[in-house]
Amino acid sequence: MLPALPGADSTIGFLREGYTFISRRCDRLGTDGFRTRLVGRPVTCLRGAEAAARFYGGGRFTRAGAMPPTVVHLLQDEGSVQTLHDEDHRQRKGMFLDSLQGPAAARLPEVFAHEWSQALSRWQVADEVVLHEEMTEVLTRTGASWCGIPADELDATRRTRELAGMVSRAGSFGPANWAAQLARRRTETWAADLVSRVRAGDLLPPEGSFLRVLADHEDLGGERLEPDTAAVELLNVLRPVVAVSRFVVFAALALLRHPRWREQLASGDETDLRPFVQEVRRRYPFFPVIGGRAREAFEWYGHPFAAGDWVLLDLYGTNHDPRAWEDPEAFVPERFRGRTGHPESLVPQGGGRYEDDHRCPGEPATIALMEEAVRQLTRRMHYRVPAQDLTVDLRRMPALPRSGFVIREVSR
Ligand code: HEM
Repeated sequence: MLPALPGADSTIGFLREGYTFISRRCDRLGTDGFRTRLVGRPVTCLRGAEAAARFYGGGRFTRAGAMPPTVVHLLQDEGSVQTLHDEDHRQRKGMFLDSLQGPAAARLPEVFAHEWSQALSRWQVADEVVLHEEMTEVLTRTGASWCGIPADELDATRRTRELAGMVSRAGSFGPANWAAQLARRRTETWAADLVSRVRAGDLLPPEGSFLRVLADHEDLGGERLEPDTAAVELLNVLRPVVAVSRFVVFAALALLRHPRWREQLASGDETDLRPFVQEVRRRYPFFPVIGGRAREAFEWYGHPFAAGDWVLLDLYGTNHDPRAWEDPEAFVPERFRGRTGHPESLVPQGGGRYEDDHRCPGEPATIALMEEAVRQLTRRMHYRVPAQDLTVDLRRMPALPRSGFVIREVSR
């Protein structure tokens, strides 16, 4: 039986401690999980590869009602692939997988390299550059171009602000979150209009581009998606591509903190490029947890779960679980050389199977973008990192180095 935390509600503790809230308590209790209440609702918190393997696989959980509406409205929204189940999910997910893991995916890092090079010309003449801010714009342009959205339809500054705000405000409450939700409505209107114009023949995105595929996609019933739903799915590509900016900043931070790795990767030897990127995804914080509600009754850990029960899987804590990762706080890319560990011990983008579970279809694309970013940072440009506050506060979700990673004296 999973133990219950003392005290009526853990919301304040969760918000105060952030990423380490669940794993600290698991360590203290010597278990894989515990029961408590968050925002007044009973919840079971779990961490570790075993728990991840049970959470994914078997379609036991729905994402509906599993995260606060303030988070859902910014990150997913009604009608998206994350709210679907079984065959409906498989059909919609197939569209994402065909685009993000099919032949078109190879173009994404190429477009990114092109946009990076364009931005580099601007950075060379700037006094200083905040890498996170710049990356959000570079990746907004990258995502839009890859989707087949013409540059003159983008309004890059505005879209960057809206898309980046959806991610940075997802963990906030009150006015900051409401403002981001309002901005999201505007972005959805823009996206729905693009889809409608593609269908009307007024816009002609290239054959095979995501916008074209999305406009033509049919759900199981043979119907095309409602423009509002298609808009949500277009944002489901544009927004997370922008979010990769956070991993790019963490990669830059790792290169700064571990000059040995900078040297090796700058030499052009790419043997350890993938292990380096994987260690960035494992070590640095992004999605703290993922929530699910049980679709039917079952028993786990000697604990009876009823339909509707709420579970939080600790993604960050699983990536830092000392049972799977020796010295988990250390940055050790070597651990990914020929890795044979439990597949569900690395879950920064969810677990399970891409086709049947909600595992992030953009995971390979994220890795490819990060590899390109490391190439750019180590081999295509020089820069100096001035003194600044690079603290990563694990109580802030989503986390980022406080300064946003300022660089100076940029040259090719
Ligand atoms: C910045 C890096 C990224 C992180 C940390 C991330 C993380 C996640 C997580 C945790 C989930 C939810 C898993 C679940 O519900 O169990 C998810 C789902 C999803 N991600 Fe990502 N993601 C990233 C990048 C991307 C990219 C680049 C794309 C697309 C271009 C993408 C598209 C999606 C979609 C469509 C889903 C819903 C999948 C489904 O419900 O089946 N993500 N992602």
